[in-house]
Amino acid sequence: MKFKVNSYHFKLLRDYERLSAFKEAIDDYAKRMNDDGSNALDDSDKKIAFDLGCGSGVLSYFAQTYMDRIIAIELNNSAYQLAKENLKGFDRIQVYNDDILSFDFSKLNEKADLIICEMLDTALIDEEEVPVLNRAKEYLKEDGEIIPKGIINSAEPIFMNNHFIQYEDDEYSPVYIALGKSVVYSKFDFLDEIDPNFSAVIDLEVFGKKDLQEIGLEEKLLGERYEKFDFKENFNIREDKLKINGIKLTSFTKLNENIICGPTPMMNPEMLIPIEEIEVRSGDTIRIRLEYVMGGGVETINTEILDIIHD
Ligand SMILES: C[S@@+](CC[C@H](N)C(=O)[O-])C[C@H]1O[C@@H](n2cnc3c(N)ncnc32)[C@H](O)[C@@H]1O
Repeated sequence: MKFKVNSYHFKLLRDYERLSAFKEAIDDYAKRMNDDGSNALDDSDKKIAFDLGCGSGVLSYFAQTYMDRIIAIELNNSAYQLAKENLKGFDRIQVYNDDILSFDFSKLNEKADLIICEMLDTALIDEEEVPVLNRAKEYLKEDGEIIPKGIINSAEPIFMNNHFIQYEDDEYSPVYIALGKSVVYSKFDFLDEIDPNFSAVIDLEVFGKKDLQEIGLEEKLLGERYEKFDFKENFNIREDKLKINGIKLTSFTKLNENIICGPTPMMNPEMLIPIEEIEVRSGDTIRIRLEYVMGGGVETINTEILDIIHD
């Protein structure tokens, strides 16, 4: 099937890993719901799905084979027009141009068996996945499911060239060097009520001398990519002094119990966040407070260095 898209939704459709992760999770849902294990739901078992933030309508299209009714809701009028056009041949799909945060779900007279919602953004900061699901979950059946099921977030200390928030996506390739281990600092299951105001104290371990040797830090810093930004000035490896001025956040999307998808070009690209520049030694632990509002945008991000613990 050919989809009409604008440039943003074209990029979303071109992101094969993102699409295949969602397709696999939708197919898997249908298989689990169907007793005989085939890919079609039983006629006696009428299923309804909500596709929240349907964009071009691609996820409704994937789900329509299995569901008896799909409610697709899209805030952006031009995306809504595309979805209407793309899905016009499918009578079981109704497309609404509305804001999910104020949409009157009660008029549907039915709760959903399945909610599909791809409003993901790294650590769920810049898109409305959390507020939207907190609202729509009231209209999910007790045994209903959500795709994706949840998210896992990790952080690591870095040195970055630009002191502003950057994403590592297919258009921009920021220059930075990872200087510590990645730690999981939060996990959310979307079936739970989630407080959008996030705050955590995270211990970030700077690489030890052996790790630095293994990653070949010194040789790396001499490379053209890093030389250009005078990275070498900021690292005195012989005197065991390293500068840290940022953290990198990585999100892993849990599509269901079995499918976990890392960053893709258009879904949760790694995010680099500047922090106050500090000098550390290899093996130190940086204790940091990280705060943001999920769905509140990147301007809600706040970091504070609480302590530097020596090895
Ligand atoms: C990342 S896109 C995903 C589009 C499509 N589901 C897909 O997977 O290709 C998220 C979509 O959610 C829509 N959206 C964001 N906030 C919304 C809201 N409050 N109500 C309805 N749609 C919203 C955006 O306009 C955007 O089209």
